[in-house]
Amino acid sequence: MKKFYITTPIYYVNAKPHIGHSYTSIAADCLARYNRRRLGKDNVWFLTGTDEHGQKIQKAADEAKLSPQEFVDKIVPQFKDLWKALDISYDDFIRTTEERHIKFVQRVFDILNQKGDIYESKYEGWYCTPCETFWTELQITNSLCPDCKRPLEKISETNYFFRLSKYQDWLVKYIGEHADFIKPASRREEVLSFLGHNKLTDLCISRPKERLSWGIPLPFPPEADSPQASAPEHVAYVWFDALINYISAVGSFDEKGNYSSKWWQEDVNVVQLIGKDILRHHAVYWPIMLEALGIRQPNTVFAHGWWLIADTKMSKSRGNVVNPIDIVNRFGIDSYRYFLLRDVPFGLDGNFSEESVTKRFNDDLANDLGNLLYRTLTMVEKYYEGNVPGLDIKNAGFDANGEQLKKNLFIKVDITHAIGANSDLNFSAALTGIWEVINMANKYVEETKPWNLVKEGKAEELKKFIRLLVEVIRNVGEAVSPFMPRTAESIIEQIGKDKINKTNPLFPRIERK
Ligand code: MSP
Repeated sequence: MKKFYITTPIYYVNAKPHIGHSYTSIAADCLARYNRRRLGKDNVWFLTGTDEHGQKIQKAADEAKLSPQEFVDKIVPQFKDLWKALDISYDDFIRTTEERHIKFVQRVFDILNQKGDIYESKYEGWYCTPCETFWTELQITNSLCPDCKRPLEKISETNYFFRLSKYQDWLVKYIGEHADFIKPASRREEVLSFLGHNKLTDLCISRPKERLSWGIPLPFPPEADSPQASAPEHVAYVWFDALINYISAVGSFDEKGNYSSKWWQEDVNVVQLIGKDILRHHAVYWPIMLEALGIRQPNTVFAHGWWLIADTKMSKSRGNVVNPIDIVNRFGIDSYRYFLLRDVPFGLDGNFSEESVTKRFNDDLANDLGNLLYRTLTMVEKYYEGNVPGLDIKNAGFDANGEQLKKNLFIKVDITHAIGANSDLNFSAALTGIWEVINMANKYVEETKPWNLVKEGKAEELKKFIRLLVEVIRNVGEAVSPFMPRTAESIIEQIGKDKINKTNPLFPRIERK
């Protein structure tokens, strides 16, 4: 496919962003950069944004003694600043409080209502206010929320419902026929098993204004002759509102309710990154909403794992929330990006600690990559007065180590196999492949012992040896650029031209605290 559209979840603005949020954004950024190089800048669109309605936000605003709008206006810049600090190259940032989104969501309500996929009904049951989720008697024990274990409220009110249940068979079939739709495969199994064991209930997509006013007002009042004619007005359920951002940001409906978009159409590879905690919303509600609207599905919804601290969840109350800026200040932006994408295969959980970042930094960045670059620059300086010797590498012959390096240089350093050509998004494997070549090159230096070549007057061999190392580093620079854009730039600046330009070491070793 010639075009690529990548999205992150839109982040809740009830608190400051932490490393978990930055993970999804860094992964999406890496894919956006990778695809821009492959397909051209104009063929890639990277969307992120903020989820600004609902109970959580209202509560946080109340606590801050601000109106919800004032509150979100204050928090959103913190997200934008963080993305800037992490070199997140998004093309558009959508806020759910923007007019373009509000109007679009109201249109979705109208279209689904006209299609008969929305109905009004009295709801009686249990509700978890912090999670904004309804529960049935069968799902709960001791009046506690099955998710967060906090006490539930018994409520009785009139609401609007979306006919999820009508689409269950369609969804099971769709997931069954599209192996790449939900990734990794374990998450696909999880969704299929859930759908196989549970009958979907229709989704309550409104909240009465008297209970929650901070949301998008529904466009339709109750029917004048309906028994609920005096029912209170409603706002949209925050998840229903939020999911729609992926299409509201990039397209529009015509009068007949047909959606069109440059980025959400057949010739685009649509990839949506999410955390595993929001799989149900993205693998059940979202595809059904799209199907009901007559809109195509994303190619891939990829649910990554969680970053934990000593095997536990980060939380304000535990006081173990890691601020990405603290890590960046200590290790640098690219080292942080490298660590997150390298340390754990995308899809699995990982433990975050400064110690493991330090280890990766010293081993992979300072010792392997930094050392290779530095020693090569030093040799070009020493033996060739800073001029990179010319050579037709592809046609030159090398010793066994050199031949192996040359062969792998054109295979392993091409990261397409790992993150481009399939939907496994194996960032870690892509980086491992690149590092195998770096290590091979370091071994090549140690085994060739260039100082001996000099002593023995083997000028031609020395030239080939150095030129191959330069080629390795240039290719590595290209390959790491989606992961570590600044490092790549610096590598190219130092060794990309005929005359080298040596600066300070890229990754000076860090002593453990
Ligand atoms: N607002 C919803 C998403 C709506 S999308 C239509 C939301 N926001 S969130 O701010 O709570 O989380 C956003 C993303 O951050 C999710 O993908 C979530 O999985 C991710 N992370 C939050 N904490 C995390 C970790 N500790 N580790 C990794 N990612 C986690 O959910």
